[in-house]
Amino acid sequence: MTASAPNAALDASPSAVVGLGGMRALRLLDGWYALAASHEVGAKPLRRTLYGGPIALFRDGEGQVGALIDRCPHRNVPLSGGRSERGALECPYHGWRFDRVGQCVEVPGLLRPGGEQARRCGHHAVRERQGLIFVYGRPDTEPTTEPPDVAPPGPRYGEVRRVVEFPGSLWSTAENALDVPHTAYLHRGLFRGGSGPRNEIEAVVVRDATSTTAHYHGEPRPGGLVARILAPSGGEVAHFDRFELPGVAIVDYRLGDDLHFRVLTLLAPLEDFRTRATAIVHFRLRLPHWLVAPLLGPIAMRIFRQDATILQAQTATVTRFGGEAYISTEIDILGAQIRRLIERAAAGRPADEQPHADDGPTWERRVRLRT
Ligand code: FES
Ligand SMILES: [Fe+2]
Repeated sequence: MTASAPNAALDASPSAVVGLGGMRALRLLDGWYALAASHEVGAKPLRRTLYGGPIALFRDGEGQVGALIDRCPHRNVPLSGGRSERGALECPYHGWRFDRVGQCVEVPGLLRPGGEQARRCGHHAVRERQGLIFVYGRPDTEPTTEPPDVAPPGPRYGEVRRVVEFPGSLWSTAENALDVPHTAYLHRGLFRGGSGPRNEIEAVVVRDATSTTAHYHGEPRPGGLVARILAPSGGEVAHFDRFELPGVAIVDYRLGDDLHFRVLTLLAPLEDFRTRATAIVHFRLRLPHWLVAPLLGPIAMRIFRQDATILQAQTATVTRFGGEAYISTEIDILGAQIRRLIERAAAGRPADEQPHADDGPTWERRVRLRT
């Protein structure tokens, strides 16, 4: 038996470009992905995938979560079909037991000790933070980074969480989460594109080695349903959208001191073209939170369903035509920047490399658009 059973789907370095019906998805392995909520992982293992590679999540005897590659190194049965037993994950076939870093701690019936070191299962580093299980993308690696902070931005914030799976790549899902021009069409009336006049606003777009942000200026309170509920008295909006590698999308709105609304979406690529989104909405406003929270969930889900439907159509079309072929304009503000960050990270290029004059540690440009 060899030392470890690498997850073939993830076994590419520094990151693979893979085909799917002629399509290619960029893979980012060096990063944390929110693969589950804490309450989903108990004694019974939970099977999740990352870029199609199956992972068995379980809790050991200390209550710590382990993420093992879901293939028993003995006879390749999925460990997720087993159970957490005496502090380790027990395979359902012959009962080999593995601790949370993939070390085999028992072979039932084996009388002669020794050889334990050779009996290993591949594993992913795990952090459990604020009710979420973060799994590091590259197996058998001790990460040098920590998962993103998902705590509220301050005291007295309400919180709503929702999980949605989008039938799109991490890139197309991230673009969708942060794309302004589609909101007036796809989500007409919900937060932009109401009956009022359209507004001309300016966006300042910045990009550094690991993130890109669009700051919007001059945006009055939108006329849609969501905005009317949240800020009945109007005012000027302070709004920014941000993407952080490998898959964090942040939409942040403030209306004066009365309202702050932040949607932090953690994207995890379950498959090349299937992305799990954990949306954490934090809000502080004048209306009582107990009044607003029950409204936010259904409205958010309606928006997500519309987005999921359009991403499904996009992915199906890209598949049918055997690849992507996009034409963009300058108001496709963050999509191109996100793509650039992902391509660069996927190619394993150092973050401070500057191959082009406009590709320095920070980069800025202004865009005018009508919302
Ligand atoms: S296949 Fe897992 S113990 Fe044999
Ligand atoms: Fe949307």
